[in-house]
Amino acid sequence: MSLAVRFDDIHKDFGPVRVLHGVSFALAPSRIYGLVGENGAGKSTLMKILAGYEKPSAGAIEIDGTPVHFGGSREAEAAGIVLIHQEFNLAEHLTISQNMYLGHEKRRGWFVDDTAMHDEARHYLAQVGLDKTPGTPVRELIVAEKQLVEIAKALSRHARLLIMDEPTATLTPEETHRLFALMERLKADGVTIVYISHKLDEVERITDEVIVMRDGRFVSRGETAGFTRQQMANLMVGREVSDMFPDKAPVPEGAGVALKVEGLAVPGWIEGLSFQVHAGEVFGFAGLVGSGRTEAFEAMLGLRRRSAGRVEIAGRCIELNSPRDAMRQGLTYLSEDRKGKGLHVDLSLQDNLTLMTHERYAHPLIDTRAERDALQQAVGEFGIRVGDLAGRARTLSGGNQQKLALAKFLQPDPRVIVLDEPTRGVDVGAKRDIYFMIHRLAREGRAVIVISSELIELIGLCHRVAVMRAGRLQAILGREHLTEEELIAHATGTH
Ligand SMILES: Nc1ncnc2c1ncn2[C@@H]1O[C@H](COP(=O)(O)OP(=O)(O)OP(=O)(O)O)[C@@H](O)[C@H]1O
Ligand SMILES: [Mg+2]
Repeated sequence: MSLAVRFDDIHKDFGPVRVLHGVSFALAPSRIYGLVGENGAGKSTLMKILAGYEKPSAGAIEIDGTPVHFGGSREAEAAGIVLIHQEFNLAEHLTISQNMYLGHEKRRGWFVDDTAMHDEARHYLAQVGLDKTPGTPVRELIVAEKQLVEIAKALSRHARLLIMDEPTATLTPEETHRLFALMERLKADGVTIVYISHKLDEVERITDEVIVMRDGRFVSRGETAGFTRQQMANLMVGREVSDMFPDKAPVPEGAGVALKVEGLAVPGWIEGLSFQVHAGEVFGFAGLVGSGRTEAFEAMLGLRRRSAGRVEIAGRCIELNSPRDAMRQGLTYLSEDRKGKGLHVDLSLQDNLTLMTHERYAHPLIDTRAERDALQQAVGEFGIRVGDLAGRARTLSGGNQQKLALAKFLQPDPRVIVLDEPTRGVDVGAKRDIYFMIHRLAREGRAVIVISSELIELIGLCHRVAVMRAGRLQAILGREHLTEEELIAHATGTH
């Protein structure tokens, strides 16, 4: 059952760009490793090499003392190494069990044995705590549930070494708790786990040992208990990280109402939601997954049917039919489901950035020069790490895709900005950049709405925070009431 891995001087080049510069370290069985590093440090790439998705340009991997060369992920899986991808890898139109057994179908004679697959799928779904039948189409699942399907799928492959690339980015505290219990069980069974995360508090909680990478190199390792979070952050970034949040500039006296929502109702989700956000204000939305925050904004934007409600932007009553329409009227919305709705990973960075505002660059021909300038500027302003400016969005690391999505959504120069989980999967340094950027946008007189499941983020960032529970607004907390205890109490209904 045991499986020991050694990376021996692993290099990786993508074309002319070197992203791994001779990484060497070893992993022992039955331990949970936290692999941390900035966006673009090479964590996912190294793990994709281990799991057979990429080939090293030089160097070798040894398993139990023997060099291995995987021809693909199937060969790695056969050796017991399974990677759960950072970005979801599920086929939306297939069912849960079809996804779990895609390419690994169980057969009875010549026939696909649906019953056997369903039975087994049910077993693994119960293990990860996902209360859905195996026949449920994946497109009907929310993001957190898709993550659980990925984990169930990995378990069904009998992993001896399980790599989880940002598994909790989309999970609630409750789901995370359950996942950690599951990880402990797997570890007790002899499974080695590599846990990649930007949530350093979770790294502290669940891992035995921390491995830090920076700029494609191994930097440091040690027992988790021997690191403080601050030390991890400093090692990742290569300098002292301090003051995560900017000072909150007060919302100017007499600032106009930028967004006013009255009596919004979405059948099955929201009842009577009313709030207003001022120009220059950073306004948060807290609540558990399923409390209706995302749904409320999707309804406002015409992505969901609403049965009642009035929306005003800068005093003008408007009817929004689509995100594009909303953008024209001055409101942009960055969805939490980046891959599904935010970026087109197969298009170039350039096309992604300017897709929403092509009109602006066409007079009447597309001004490619201006487009290129806009990309250069976005890359600089948002600190997007790119190997190749002409590359596709897919070639960016997870966190850098996130920054590109942000840059893209701010292209139309909006009056109201809605950011759903803006720092998910983003490293500490970049998080800080995004926080400062949000405040800069607010100081320019825009209203910024932040939907987040990180309470610390909402408290550090927002002037006021609305708390939703079961589709209803519970409270709007400002200043002195903006504490974790108050937020949790309202979100869970124990106030
Ligand atoms: N297919 C590819 N083609 C070109 N460059 C790539 C490709 N895949 C990754 N890269 C580059 O390799 C570097 C490392 O990326 P990687 O995804 O491993 O980072 P990461 O540490 O996982 O970051 P994050 O925390 O953002 O997920 C990045 O600069 C990225 O742009
Ligand atoms: Mg990654």
